[in-house]
Amino acid sequence: MSALLQEPEIVLRPMRETDVPTVLAIEERVAITPWTEGIFSGCIGVGYSCWVCTDDDEVVGFGVLSYGSGEAHILNIAIDSPAQGKGLGRRMMRHLLEQAESYGAETTFLEVRPSNKNAVGLYESLGFNQVGLRREYYPTRDKGREDALILAISGFTETL
Ligand SMILES: CC(C)(COP(=O)(O)OP(=O)(O)OC[C@H]1O[C@@H](n2cnc3c(N)ncnc32)[C@H](O)[C@@H]1OP(=O)(O)O)[C@@H](O)C(=O)NCCC(=O)NCCS
Repeated sequence: MSALLQEPEIVLRPMRETDVPTVLAIEERVAITPWTEGIFSGCIGVGYSCWVCTDDDEVVGFGVLSYGSGEAHILNIAIDSPAQGKGLGRRMMRHLLEQAESYGAETTFLEVRPSNKNAVGLYESLGFNQVGLRREYYPTRDKGREDALILAISGFTETL
């Protein structure tokens, strides 16, 4: 009997404290200035909307959103390198925006390096627009600093 080809099972579920070591390892692989274990644990502890993306039960990405006073902020999102480019980042972003909407957020903000073309492309394709710029906000891999683009989306657009 021939083996059946099965689609991988992609699931988005709340991040647990026990996910933090795996989440941290992904963050350290893909981020230029990675968050620490304490920041991830703190976000879970204060009740931010923290999610992981799993592929056949293995954590391959995460997203963190905060909400307050009608505004949501996407604080972090990453997909592990081998899993990038397969639509998981878009799926996590849509999920975070659905969460923002469910909290009643009128606007959702995020910050991104202009050099991060993949991320900027993803956010713009979802309907985010630039609303500000923080000059020399991020440290770079080398010496020097890089601006942060402040992007925002209001409401829940058709492009989602
Ligand atoms: C940014 C990131 C989350 C995107 O996740 P992903 O799963 O790779 O993205 P997707 O496969 O869902 O692609 C969504 C969109 O991103 C853009 N994108 C993704 N990979 C790209 C690539 N190699 N080249 C150009 N654009 C790309 C495209 O706009 C793409 O849309 P399309 O599918 O219609 O072409 C992921 O690259 C990542 O984790 N990067 C490192 C951490 C990081 O930079 N986080 C964001 C900090 S602000």
